Amino acid sequence: MDPHMDDQRMGRDEVIKGTDDDAIISKLSAVNLGYLDDPFVKHFVKRPSRRPPLINRGSYLRTRSLDTFAENFIRSGSVHSDGAKPGSSQTSGQTKKQIVSLGCGSDTRYFKLKTKGLTVHKYFEIDFQESTAKKAVVIKKNKAFTDVIADPDLKLGLGGTELYAKDYCLLSGDLREFTEVIVPKLMAQGFDTSLPTLFLSECVLIYIQPRDSDRIVEWVGTNMSASLFVLYEQINPTDAFGAMMLRNLRARRIELPGIHAYPSLKSQEERFTSRGWLAAKAIDMNNLHSSLTEGEMKRISGLEIFDEVEEWQMLASHYCVAWAYHVREDPRPAWDRQQMIKLLTLAVSG
Ligand SMILES: C[S@@+](CC[C@H](N)C(=O)[O-])C[C@H]1O[C@@H](n2cnc3c(N)ncnc32)[C@H](O)[C@@H]1O
Repeated sequence: MDPHMDDQRMGRDEVIKGTDDDAIISKLSAVNLGYLDDPFVKHFVKRPSRRPPLINRGSYLRTRSLDTFAENFIRSGSVHSDGAKPGSSQTSGQTKKQIVSLGCGSDTRYFKLKTKGLTVHKYFEIDFQESTAKKAVVIKKNKAFTDVIADPDLKLGLGGTELYAKDYCLLSGDLREFTEVIVPKLMAQGFDTSLPTLFLSECVLIYIQPRDSDRIVEWVGTNMSASLFVLYEQINPTDAFGAMMLRNLRARRIELPGIHAYPSLKSQEERFTSRGWLAAKAIDMNNLHSSLTEGEMKRISGLEIFDEVEEWQMLASHYCVAWAYHVREDPRPAWDRQQMIKLLTLAVSG
């Protein structure tokens, strides 16, 4: 490769890694104001900063909606496999499940879920090596995290850039090398393509060229017996607000290559359905906002003055959450396919 191109790509990657700092500072701002309850976030922020009400409400909705998908996925019940032996994990109790967080950054969802008693067989987190190295240090040195992992065999690996525990793995790698590098790493840590698995991409695939993010979606749809994919990212790049949003990001050297390939709710659904996924749906943040209960709306309205209603609606129409699920025709092991579809439908309907 041209060394100049290499430098350019490394420079762009540095900026992309930095987007996590912004996300976690905004999340802490929402926690400190009472929008979110998360005792883990503060450990990742050196210099807290209060964000404006618009950003706080956005962080709250984004986190809450992905939390809800994860919680519903874990709670969505059991599916028996036709060939399961009596007493096996598929005939008694909960079906084993996995979660894979793509581009996890400093996200704390594993810790929040486990604190609530919501566990999965394995929770995998993946990010660039520099990002996982920072995260691994914070987790390993802090009792608040190691108590939740609760595994005396918790180990640091690959020069301190990865963490391995019984139900939690933090793995380093570039998602653009998903099939060649990430999948073998997952497999080496006990990832099981036959288990129902939730893939999360919270403001991540949008930073990756569509040919690379499409490869991830295709690999999951083709190789997993049963999968649910939930993503959160920007849309509508071409109206006046969208163009301004891209200009502002570009001023910070941030590009969103994915937004042009998937610019609308319809195209977000089609990125899955055109690849054979069984069902897909995308909604914008206005829709999420109006689905809050009256009680919750009252609660958050009392947290700080919020009078930028028009700006909010504009901003909220430029962010979406999209989800899709797929169950292979020939799931391995021989799950009851209809039951599995029911489980995933439950996970997305709440
Ligand atoms: C905006 S942050 C979001 C972090 C986290 N998902 C959250 O919502 O709090 C984007 C994350 O994606 C990661 N990321 C982007 N492109 C990546 C790639 N090609 N390989 C691995 N990680 C990537 C970045 O390093 C960063 O941590």
